[in-house]
Amino acid sequence: MDVVFAESALDRLGDMRILLAGGAGYIGTHIIVSLCAQGHVPIVVDDLSNSSKVAIERVERIVERPISFHQADLRDTDTLRRLFDQEGPDAVIHLAGLKAVGESVAQPLRYYDTNINATVSLLRVMAEKQVHKLIFSSSATVYGDPESLPLTEDSRVGGGISNPYGWTKFMIEQILRDIAPTDPRWQITLLRYFNPVGAHPSGLIGEDPAGIPNNLMPFIAQVAAGRRDHVNVFGDDYDTADGTGVRDYIHVMDLAEGHVAALNHLTNGVATYNLGTGQGTSVLQLIHAFSAACGAPIPYQITARRPGDVAACYCSPAKATRDLGWQATRTIDDACRDSWNWQSQNPAGYPAA
Ligand code: NAD
Ligand code: WQD
Repeated sequence: MDVVFAESALDRLGDMRILLAGGAGYIGTHIIVSLCAQGHVPIVVDDLSNSSKVAIERVERIVERPISFHQADLRDTDTLRRLFDQEGPDAVIHLAGLKAVGESVAQPLRYYDTNINATVSLLRVMAEKQVHKLIFSSSATVYGDPESLPLTEDSRVGGGISNPYGWTKFMIEQILRDIAPTDPRWQITLLRYFNPVGAHPSGLIGEDPAGIPNNLMPFIAQVAAGRRDHVNVFGDDYDTADGTGVRDYIHVMDLAEGHVAALNHLTNGVATYNLGTGQGTSVLQLIHAFSAACGAPIPYQITARRPGDVAACYCSPAKATRDLGWQATRTIDDACRDSWNWQSQNPAGYPAA
């Protein structure tokens, strides 16, 4: 007797060909590891504008198999068409874009051009090639200045977004909501990441920001490695337990596993999930946790607030737990240990390709 699998059951067998757009970056490389662990086949397209081919070579060492890699700008629609013909992806995880908040204020056109036009080009090719499964890297930034905490997927979006980067995420979410009704086959999941930190426990891959890190965790890691003198703590007069900013830091491997869970539970239309831990951690708590992980004090100085920062931001991940069967399992201490393992093995980041 023939055994007939429903499409969703087939997907769960874990043999999908997944195109990771922007897959050579910090989060994409960790998702590759989680996809391979579930038997999926990752394919990467990235223009390497903020990443290195060495990161892909490192992932190949972790997963012990070659990864199909294409260097291309997503806005080059003809190249993307050829890539889809060659690789035949079943689904796309779209991580590609520029993400530096301060830079987006200084260079708004570059951010709107890259983030929006890369997405439009990708969606055009997906529609043409009849690939309708998409997971998009959105961000807690769409919630702007939270009205109340914890943030749920129904919380207000758009109020108090303070930079063009944040607006590109807001706008792309809207583009995806507008696309979905045009063809009932679209299955789109928006994942709103909170603050991704940590690294794969091997220490082979991790966050390697170009120039001075914008984000707290890589800055702390570079101070611990002796690349910088001290951490500037942006304000200690917020309405939080110790006066410093509170965020929902999520281990990048938990985040990566959230993508695999989302892939296995794609449904028609658009679904939105917060990927965070539900726990708030202050700047000083993170500095102290990192200090314990690396076994040395992390010098810091209290400075003025950073414009655009909110006092506290953390989510309820309950919807993802209910629908995707996913929840973060790793702690802040795990993230600091893994981040230090990566940073101490690679004090200057990835070597030149
Ligand atoms: P990343 O910069 O390490 O990765 C993004 C990748 O996209 C890079 O490898 C870059 O080279 C590539 N890219 C940029 N423009 C491209 C283009 N036009 N064509 C092809 N590739 C292009 O960033 P990340 O931290 O891995 O973030 C991945 C995604 O998650 C981004 O969309 C980011 O906005 C989003 N996100 C990140 C965070 C965070 O704190 N890291 C938080 C929320 C959301
Ligand atoms: C965390 C806390 C700072 C650096 C940003 C983006 C957001 C998302 C994640 C992509 C805050 C404080 C920081 C430093 C500090 N990215 N801080 N000294 O601002 O929550 O979110 O990254 O989508 O869109 O806005 O993260 O790591 O920059 O800051 O005191 O040198 O650390 O004030 O309280 P943020 P962050």
